[in-house]
Amino acid sequence: NNSIKRSMPLFGKKVMVTAGPTYEAIDPVRFIGNHSSGKMGFALADELVKLGAEVTLISGPTSQREGQHLQRIDVVSAQEMLNACSAIFSETDITIMCAAVADYRPKFVADQKIKKQENSLLLELEKTVDILATLGSVKNEHQILVGFALETNDEENYAKGKLEKKNLDLVVLNSLNDKGAGFKSDTNKITIFNKALERTVFETKSKADVARDICAAILKLLK
Ligand code: CTP
Ligand code: CA
Repeated sequence: NNSIKRSMPLFGKKVMVTAGPTYEAIDPVRFIGNHSSGKMGFALADELVKLGAEVTLISGPTSQREGQHLQRIDVVSAQEMLNACSAIFSETDITIMCAAVADYRPKFVADQKIKKQENSLLLELEKTVDILATLGSVKNEHQILVGFALETNDEENYAKGKLEKKNLDLVVLNSLNDKGAGFKSDTNKITIFNKALERTVFETKSKADVARDICAAILKLLK
């Protein structure tokens, strides 16, 4: 029903969410990856749909299944995620960069499977492009950009540093210190900082509830 839809808080808003890890190829059968499950990004996408947003979910390799009423784009590497994000960013009102993007990738990808030979093997790695920082550098004043910061130490300072360096509107600090938090777990412990560096601390919660808290913080910015 259209009038119900129109009354939803994010009706008419185009939202992009990234989720999951990226895989960086070493050779045709191997990659460098990380333990991100994709759960947090998928929970965010589902919550944004519930709030009436038009959601595009850009996902690295995960076993998660998306909910209804969203567009899903699957990618593998950081470069593919950058391309997918760059293609639609200018049309989006809100972007949440939840993916655990690889910071480095093999500098040379072997065409054939690397055979074992010596007792040690050195892989040369090069930095990937920071997708979030790239989007932050081209963002206009009407767009909302939300990033995550995954930290194990000096976490608040690092999180605030990322907010400023990457030109974000909100940064969600994901505390890996907390027992119930992190990649594989069903719960997360977050702290959100806004541009004024005001801090909101949340309890450990299910990722669905964390998604609700993050969306509530975004709705506050729209007011
Ligand atoms: N990010 C990104 N592109 C990258 C690396 C990270 O878009 N190549 C994004 C992540 O999706 C996240 C934010 O940047 O929203 C912070 O990621 P994080 O790994 O916590 O910080 P980094 O800036 O990569 O720094 P470091 O890993 O050294 O702490
Ligand atoms: Ca990183």
